[in-house]
Amino acid sequence: MKKTLEAIDVAHKKVFVRVDFNVPLKDGQITDDTRIRATLPTINYLIGKGAKVILASHLGRPKGERKPEFTLAPCAKRLSELLGKPVAFANDCVGPEAEAAVNALNDGDVLLLENLRYHKEEEKNGPEFAKELASLAEVGINDAFGVSHRAHASVEGITAYLPMVAGYLLEKEIKYVGGAVANPEHPFAAIIGGAKVSDKIEVISNLLPKVEVLIIGGGMANTFIAAKGYPTGSSLVEADKIELAASLIKQAEESKTQLLLPTDFVVADAFSNDANHKVVPADGIEEGWMALDIGPDSQKEFAKALNNMKMIVWNGPMGVFEMDNFAAGTNAVAKAVAEANAVTIVGGGDSVAAIEKSGLADKISHISTGGGASLEYLEGKALPGIMALQDA
Ligand code: 3PG
Repeated sequence: MKKTLEAIDVAHKKVFVRVDFNVPLKDGQITDDTRIRATLPTINYLIGKGAKVILASHLGRPKGERKPEFTLAPCAKRLSELLGKPVAFANDCVGPEAEAAVNALNDGDVLLLENLRYHKEEEKNGPEFAKELASLAEVGINDAFGVSHRAHASVEGITAYLPMVAGYLLEKEIKYVGGAVANPEHPFAAIIGGAKVSDKIEVISNLLPKVEVLIIGGGMANTFIAAKGYPTGSSLVEADKIELAASLIKQAEESKTQLLLPTDFVVADAFSNDANHKVVPADGIEEGWMALDIGPDSQKEFAKALNNMKMIVWNGPMGVFEMDNFAAGTNAVAKAVAEANAVTIVGGGDSVAAIEKSGLADKISHISTGGGASLEYLEGKALPGIMALQDA
């Protein structure tokens, strides 16, 4: 158990909060503010307690250079709108400018520091840089789940100088994503999708012995189909992973885990939304056709299998979700997960987008803000940012 923010005294204190405001931007505009909204409970709690709130984040990968396209200024503006109060912005995260901005804070004020990754020491976990960050505050909180798999200065190194505890968002991610791995409720199902098996091998291997049902969809299902000896036409198949897929199928049989592969596919004659497309059985993909989504029978089978689960983890789309003609499988799974009478955890950009689009996001127990971080957590790895937190 890790210590959380309610266990420490924050009133009138300078509180350093590592957040993950690595949000998508287009022409300087934030296109999805989910990660900012996810930190509001922690920030509002601190404001309510009269803390001086110092927020620090990375944005993109500027690789130690002050690249203007990676400024966090748009996030300060958005946060200010969400909080309904001013958010100060410092042009640097350490040094005289940051110090002056911190010293100007009154109780209940909020400051956002400029991009941590403008300093190369952030990613190098440089001790001097970590110490400088720590010197800005009296208390430290990590609410940046999305970057907690990185041993970076503001996430891990800083804890040598400023003890950190978990914010509300991190606490929730630990409870749900960590809980699904360490202490799942049964019957437990995992739905794993996405283009490639190679991206999710470790997640599948870690979850396979823990689940009663494992559903495989998306491009990676083709490699499993190939492992069963079925033709795959011109579908994306990772030839060097066919053997691995075969051994996972065998492992599932031996452990009596129900491994569900698509029973039918929507195939197309080109990788385009406008391509000719049709539904074929899983063993019926002809030469010149590629699987781009699961078919209607698979949708029904998957939904049926999820029906009596107590816990469901979903990561990765069932097809080429960004093309409307191949989005039905992902949308059907989104609906089935949302309607399941279970603890439901959704992670990964595309599955989260599908849930949001379905209008059923409020029916999901936990939507993870982590991409790489939730994958590594599901792989069973210890995340450095979480390990470094104070124990309760
Ligand atoms: C993410 O978007 O997954 C996190 O913010 C981490 O970003 P990174 O992969 O650049 O470290």
